[in-house]
Amino acid sequence: MGIEKTLETNIIRMRPEAEVALKTNDLHVHYGDFEAIKGVSMEFEKNKITSLIGPSGCGKSTYLRSLNRMNDTVPGAKVTGEIIYQGIDVNVPEVDVFEMRKNIGMVFQRPNPFSKSIYENIAFALRRHGMKDKAALDEIVETSLKQAALWDQVKDQLNKSALALSGGQQQRLCIARAIALKPDILLLDEPASALDPISTSQVEETLLELKEKYTIIIVTHNMQQASRISDYTAFFYLGNVIEYDETRKIFTRPKIQQTEDYVSGHFG
Ligand SMILES: Nc1ncnc2c1ncn2[C@@H]1O[C@H](COP(=O)(O)OP(=O)(O)OP(=O)(O)O)[C@@H](O)[C@H]1O
Ligand SMILES: [Mg+2]
Repeated sequence: MGIEKTLETNIIRMRPEAEVALKTNDLHVHYGDFEAIKGVSMEFEKNKITSLIGPSGCGKSTYLRSLNRMNDTVPGAKVTGEIIYQGIDVNVPEVDVFEMRKNIGMVFQRPNPFSKSIYENIAFALRRHGMKDKAALDEIVETSLKQAALWDQVKDQLNKSALALSGGQQQRLCIARAIALKPDILLLDEPASALDPISTSQVEETLLELKEKYTIIIVTHNMQQASRISDYTAFFYLGNVIEYDETRKIFTRPKIQQTEDYVSGHFG
């Protein structure tokens, strides 16, 4: 079974039997008068990796950032429509955004570790969420660094500054920091774009391991990366989702000409 567009709601949905981790209903994002996202309704399947692809400026980051309310603080940005997580619309003022982001975590394009030790980069967020017990903190620091495939390289230097790590290591530290809070959903905006091929493949391996536990939504400009790691791919263009399907279909036999043109490198 492929995905289908239901007539009643126009939601682009996965296999009907699949468990949905997150969905948006008619999501619009405006920056002032400019409409960057024009009513996107789509569902993300649990424990899968979904890639968002499309030419520069088509709204991938805008859409991704909306999913955990990162656009709240962007001047002039207005997000309307529903973002349904665990049966609740998290796009309403009453939602505790700090708590919500514990469940919907984010990793940015440029690694942004705090100017603190490797250990503190992870422990800091946990303490802010009320965890004080040293042994428990130690354990989570270790498991999240292991999950992010960084532990072996840093286990003897946890007190070293995170800024002394390589770019690829810093990005994996940021992934460790995000997963230390045990989010359900991990949003990543071009997490490997600043990395060399070896670090990129390490980050990709990490993501493939993480999908056992998490639902991953990743923006990428790298078509090979999207086809290597993602189960589903959504092609964005001018603020709309043009096509959303199983990754291999998007890359081998897309249904829509614009998708075909983009994935074969004819535009964008
Ligand atoms: N803070 C902002 N204020 C005003 N306009 C913005 C802002 N951020 C993005 N835009 C506009 O919204 C549109 C979508 O931008 P967005 O960054 O989401 O695109 P993108 O698909 O992530 O592009 P890229 O692949 O280059 O990262 C663009 O036209 C951009 O100029
Ligand atoms: Mg972007």
